Amino acid sequence: MDRLIKILNSENLIYGVLSNKRNAVTPYKKVTVSPFLSKGEIMYQFESFDEKKAYQQNCKDFKEKILETLPLYKNFSLFTDKHDYQILVGKKGNLNIKSSNPTKSMSIDGHNKSKNYYFKDGVTYDFLVSLGISTPDGKIKPTKYNKFVQINRYIEILGNSIKELDFGKKITIVDFGCGKAYLTFALYYFITNETKKKVEVIGIDLKEDVIKDCTKLASELGYNGMRFINGDINDFKGDNVDIAISLHACDTATDIALIKGAQWGSKLIVAVPCCHHQLFDMIKNQDLMPILKYGVLKDKFASILTDAIRGLALQSVGYDVNIMEFTPLENTPKNVLIKAVRTGKEDKEAMDSYNKLKEMFNVSPYIDRMCDK
Ligand SMILES: C[S@@+](CC[C@H](N)C(=O)[O-])C[C@H]1O[C@@H](n2cnc3c(N)ncnc32)[C@H](O)[C@@H]1O
Repeated sequence: MDRLIKILNSENLIYGVLSNKRNAVTPYKKVTVSPFLSKGEIMYQFESFDEKKAYQQNCKDFKEKILETLPLYKNFSLFTDKHDYQILVGKKGNLNIKSSNPTKSMSIDGHNKSKNYYFKDGVTYDFLVSLGISTPDGKIKPTKYNKFVQINRYIEILGNSIKELDFGKKITIVDFGCGKAYLTFALYYFITNETKKKVEVIGIDLKEDVIKDCTKLASELGYNGMRFINGDINDFKGDNVDIAISLHACDTATDIALIKGAQWGSKLIVAVPCCHHQLFDMIKNQDLMPILKYGVLKDKFASILTDAIRGLALQSVGYDVNIMEFTPLENTPKNVLIKAVRTGKEDKEAMDSYNKLKEMFNVSPYIDRMCDK
């Protein structure tokens, strides 16, 4: 059983058939399992066949269901991207596993497959291979499909602005809390290939190991305009930064990125906030007590309020702000994206709304510092 679990954990399932019922009470004569794509995410369809009909059930975690169903059958044919397996299931659950070379290749159908992504499944991009998202021949690994969708969605949201905004000959980008910088490598690739402009990317993160990895990767890929700094974003002093990015940076790290971007007058500021803690303990509003008395609702409300306040702050200091869904909710629950494009026109109405919201909920958000120069 350990060997099967290892196979299911380390190889990509293409197709499986459980057959040869162990006894008369087993309800279906066979069960098949195959992956499919739903809203950019890999799901698994189990199809159970009786004499007359087939019954479908979709689930995310196929391993548990296979292990549950296995004792009901004597045979399990399993096809992965690495091997074909013929598995005999003994009465006591013991398995006899024979492997051979793979005969099936991955082809996942789904609603989003035909979506016109910038990066295509099946085309080789050096950074996607190096980041372990695709195989060397360009096939996206099923377990990395969410990341692939995220990267494409990111380029979809930023691509046009980057092509339309006047950045001059060189674009300077700061990625606050860059982590492994998946999206920033994608952005670097996109800008250098689509605009032919010079790009300077500075990624900053507290974690020494990710900074080392990113530096090594950029050097291996020959992405000479990318450099990574190990440090606190609070301490970073920059100027002439055209694009300020913060993706899933924790709590007020997002605010720091927005504040720095606005104070530098960056032309484009993009943030996908992560956890929000700051306002949770401050919010007070008697009229909304029926909602706020539930911790889980208060937490969601605090997130919404935090992002609305961030949007207003940016608007008031001269940005055109759009707050949108980043990727489908199933892809990541942290899926709000704040996109701010510099107009240079301060917005008094937005400032009034900002102050009203603060007063209404009795909060002093971190983003207040945006107006302190
Ligand atoms: C959830 S990870 C996201 C990483 C990356 N941006 C992404 O989207 O994959 C958040 C990152 O922010 C970094 N971070 C949080 N606070 C920071 C700070 N004050 N200075 C620098 N990095 C910070 C963490 O070390 C972590 O790598």
